[in-house]
Formats: sequence, C-alpha cells, structure tokens
Amino acid sequence: MKILIVYASRETGNSARVAQAIADRLGPECSLFSVSQAPDPGGFDFVALGFGIYRGWPDGDMIAYMKRCRKKKVGLFMTLGAWPDSAPAANCLGRAEGLLADCTVCVKFACQGAYAPEFLARLQSLPPTSSHGWTPERARRITEAMKHPDAEDLTRAGEMFSAAIEHLRTQPSVTSSPIQKKAVAAVFFGSTVPRAREAYRKITEETEKRFPGVPVFQAYTSEIVRKRTGYTVPSLPELLKKLQLEGYTGVDVLAGLLSPGEEYHRLLRDVSGFSRSLPCRVTQVPFSSLGRMREFLNRTAASLPPERKPDEDVLFMGHGNPDGRADFIYMTAAQELAKIDPRFHLACVEGAPGLDEVMPKLNAKKVYLVPFMLVAGDHALNDMAGEEEESWRSRLEAKGFRCECVLRGLGEAEGVAALFPDYLKALDEP
Ligand SMILES: Cc1cc2nc3c(=O)[nH]c(=O)nc-3n(C[C@H](O)[C@H](O)[C@H](O)COP(=O)(O)O)c2cc1C
Repeated sequence: MKILIVYASRETGNSARVAQAIADRLGPECSLFSVSQAPDPGGFDFVALGFGIYRGWPDGDMIAYMKRCRKKKVGLFMTLGAWPDSAPAANCLGRAEGLLADCTVCVKFACQGAYAPEFLARLQSLPPTSSHGWTPERARRITEAMKHPDAEDLTRAGEMFSAAIEHLRTQPSVTSSPIQKKAVAAVFFGSTVPRAREAYRKITEETEKRFPGVPVFQAYTSEIVRKRTGYTVPSLPELLKKLQLEGYTGVDVLAGLLSPGEEYHRLLRDVSGFSRSLPCRVTQVPFSSLGRMREFLNRTAASLPPERKPDEDVLFMGHGNPDGRADFIYMTAAQELAKIDPRFHLACVEGAPGLDEVMPKLNAKKVYLVPFMLVAGDHALNDMAGEEEESWRSRLEAKGFRCECVLRGLGEAEGVAALFPDYLKALDEP
C-alpha cells in the first residue's frame, strides 16, 4: 500500500513530531513530506494529513493542500491548545473533514500541543476579564498543553494509524460500505433542575416510539448548564463527533427549542461544521411559522389542568429576549392564545410583553401561573412560583389574586412532546 503523510507544522514542530511518530510506526511503505513540498496525492492509496490549529482552523497551507485531495482514503491528526475531547476540538476536526470533499476519513487523532513561547507569554499577560484572558481554567488547560505531544501521544498516534491501515488492508471496502446508520440528536437548552428534565425525557421517548430502531441521543446547547451538571450531557459538536466516530452516516437533529432564536442559530452553526463529514438535517421549531405556532398553542391549551374553570385567568410565563429580538414572536403568541380563550394571557421574564403590561388585564380572582417553556426549571420555580417578593406569584398575591402555580414544563404534555417527532417526519416530506 502506498501511504503519504503530509504535515503542516507552523509554529512549534508539534505536528511534525506526531507526523514523524506515525511514519516511524508505519515503516518503509510510507513517504513523509512537509506541506510545502507535498507531492500530488493522486498516486497514493492512503493519505495522512496533520496540522496545528490556528484560530479554530487547520493551518492555511494545509487547507489549500486538502483541496487537492479527492476521493482518497484519509487519516487526520492534529495538535492544538484546546482539550482534545472538547467541543472546540470537535469543531476543528469537523471543519477539516468539511474540506475533504469526496474523501473517506478512516482515522482521526488529536492531542494537545504546546504553544510557542512568545504566544504563551502574550496569553499570560492578558487580564482575566478579556475574552482570551488568563483565567484559572485557561491556565490549567494551557499548562497541560505545554507538556504535549508527549511520548504517550506519539505512541497512540502511531497505533491508531497502524490499526487503520491494517483494517484497510484486510477490509479495503469497509469504509465505503453503503450501509446507512442513522441517529437522532435531540438538542435542548438544558436544565440544572432534575425534575425539569422530565420534559426532555418525554420528547425523547415520543421520538423513540415514532422511529423504532433509530437511537436518540440528547445534547445541550447551554455550556453553563452542562458545566453545572458535571458535563454528563454532551454539546452538539461533541455528540456529532462521537456519532461520526461510531460510524453513523446521517443524523437528524431535533431542535428541542421553541423559537428560531439565538440557540437555534448556534445549533445550525454547529451542524454546519460537520456539513461534509456527517450529513445532518435540522428540524423546524414551534415558532418558526404561524401554522406551527397555532398547533403548538392548541396543544398547550389542551394540556392545562382540567380543574381550571372557564372564568379563571391563565397567565403563561414566556422567556423572551432582553434585547427585544423575540418580542414579535411573543406578542403574536399572546394574541393567538387570546383567540383560543380570552382569559389566556402571556408575559415574558425578559423582553415584551412584560408582567406590568399584562397584570391590568387579569380580572379573575384566581390566576393559573403556567410556564410557557418546555421545562419547568429555574424560571418556573423561582421567577414564577418562588417565595421572593419579586416572583410573579408574590407580586400577584400582593395585589389580591389567588395563584395556582403549574410546575410542569410544556414539553411534559404528551400532545406537545409529540409535535417534535412530527417535525422530524416533516424532514422527509418534499
Ligand atoms: C497564533 C496562534 C493561534 C492559535 N489558535 C489556536 C486555536 O484557535 N485553538 C487551539 O486549540 N489552539 C490554538 N493554537 C495552539 C496551536 O494549535 C498548537 O500550539 C499547535 O500544537 C501548533 O502546532 P504546529 O506548531 O505544529 O503548527 C494557536 C497557536 C498560535 C501560535
């Protein structure tokens, strides 16, 4: 087998050392080149491409060389400052794979790589408040990076590439097998409140029921929630990278969000990092069209406690956005809810319509307070139903209303949860 190893090692020689270790392990069958002298990949059966990461992307010379690699069996190795199993590292690999049009990536290796001393000194001089500032967490990560690639990294890189080549030798067509392996990635904002995660469980369960045999994996978009829950749930890039490594050939991403806002756009951006390497489709969300919103609101209305009487008010607590970007969505939702029942009201924790605006419209003595969110998490427990003076319950009770708090996320209602697999089904419709 003719094997070509090409590396770009711009600053430190880190990636060159990994390249050399792989070459040593693979032996005389392989030719090792720096990217500046790299030959035409055309005559080779397998091409290993190695690079350092600069501002989130492989070295620029390597990007240019990758575009010359067509219809090849490829292996990738990278050194970078980030943790090798982190979301930023997954994004970097995803970008590299996106550049390798028509190639089959058979093996991927990542390890940390020491920063060049001048660059390290610059990082250390930044105040902790700046976006790349020298915080304790960054200091810990970079201190570790400065020890790599170490002997263990070099051995592991050699072993992974050697195993991939052996695999190709024995089963040359296995990586281009036409078998389709599909999964669903159910992506939610995340919640630190265990009871609130019942909504995510319900949506996941409804999806599994609707698509038997297709595994459903959860991911969270909120880094803060992931951190507070001990990183037990992956980010979307982490999950996609894992699925890719496990041989999945396509992923349908169920956007477990209400609005096509900030979180939804972050999700689309994360998916685009995998655009060439792992085909993904992303669902719509309830507020991405008026038709979907109406269906969602009807099911929300049907999920209210049966004991609520027609002359009692219902005040839904939406999230909203402090800069007003979501106002028109919530204003529309408020109008549509009032069409279903004039005693339905909607106000937001952030943005418009706010509670002050809506309170004068409440005229029943009893008000049901209901989270207008998929989960009954922190906002529902504290901002809506909490004991503090500022909670909606306290503010309404101070005005003489009797409040009944519904501590159930909308996603827990079967009718609402079942909408999300409908959006997945819609991906197959023309
Ligand atoms: C200017 C500069 C930008 C960098 N940007 C990133 C980055 O965005 N993400 C990351 O994880 N590491 C980053 N690094 C760290 C390098 O990827 C790491 O040191 C790597 O091992 C360099 O490999 P090379 O010298 O073989 O090219 C950066 C380093 C420098 C000097």
